[in-house]
Amino acid sequence: MNLICTIAELEQAIDIQKQAGRIVGFVPTMGALHQGHLMLVNNAGEECDVVVVSIFVNPTQFNNNEDLQRYPRTLESDMRLLKSTPCSIVFAPSAEEVYPEEDTRVFQFGNIGSVMEGKYRPGHFNGVAQVVSKLFDMVKPHKAYFGLKDFQQLAIINSMVDQLKIPVEIIPCPIVRESDGLAMSSRNALLEPIERDNAALISKTLFEAQKKKKMYSVNELKKWVVGTIDTNSFLKTEYFDIVDDRELKSITSWEQKVNKVACIAVHCGKVRLIDNIIL
Ligand code: PAF
Repeated sequence: MNLICTIAELEQAIDIQKQAGRIVGFVPTMGALHQGHLMLVNNAGEECDVVVVSIFVNPTQFNNNEDLQRYPRTLESDMRLLKSTPCSIVFAPSAEEVYPEEDTRVFQFGNIGSVMEGKYRPGHFNGVAQVVSKLFDMVKPHKAYFGLKDFQQLAIINSMVDQLKIPVEIIPCPIVRESDGLAMSSRNALLEPIERDNAALISKTLFEAQKKKKMYSVNELKKWVVGTIDTNSFLKTEYFDIVDDRELKSITSWEQKVNKVACIAVHCGKVRLIDNIIL
């Protein structure tokens, strides 16, 4: 496994692989790797000849400086974890390497960029689109792997790829959960032990909601979910919505002939957690 920190070296390494006719798979990450990331890397390994994993905490997608400072940075242990996967190149550039000058591009995503995460983290998706488009340009992968935990991010990436006509296949991968159901996230490492225990109520409530769907109207179910989570003193719901999986528009009735996804963001102490479930 090769650790590469510059774009020039990366492009050289990728060129060699592509000239040999190999399929390049790419897993972009911000590090602090967990089993969810490793599953993306393993999926890439099954479908591709070469797997590139980027580790870069992207400053432009943080709308809160404290959040950026607190984000875990664990390159050494990330490298150790990746040794047991099919990853062959780790790309860990500096911020100066990725942004030699300010990226002033402003993407337009319409509804999918302005609801839920888009509403509560203004600028976040623009930063995601900036960095992922740059990384795609550097790695030029045939396929790129993204987790469904960041459901809205996946919609943004698909839209960005369409808009910029990037020749890459986006592969969505299922959410990986801890044994108590909590969706795996690099942010989980920031939870105090007592917060970590209570955070399991988020996924537990989503799974219950899936079962209760038939008993309640859409609005009643929304109220039940928020009420259930907010009775726990460690948790505060930021938003909960049930949306269609294409436009991410709120649904108002179970009769609507669309695939329905329940999406949630919850504050647990200083940590903000997101999760979602297909209803
Ligand atoms: O999902 C993430 O970890 C990040 O948003 C991504 C896609 C690596 C871009 O920085």
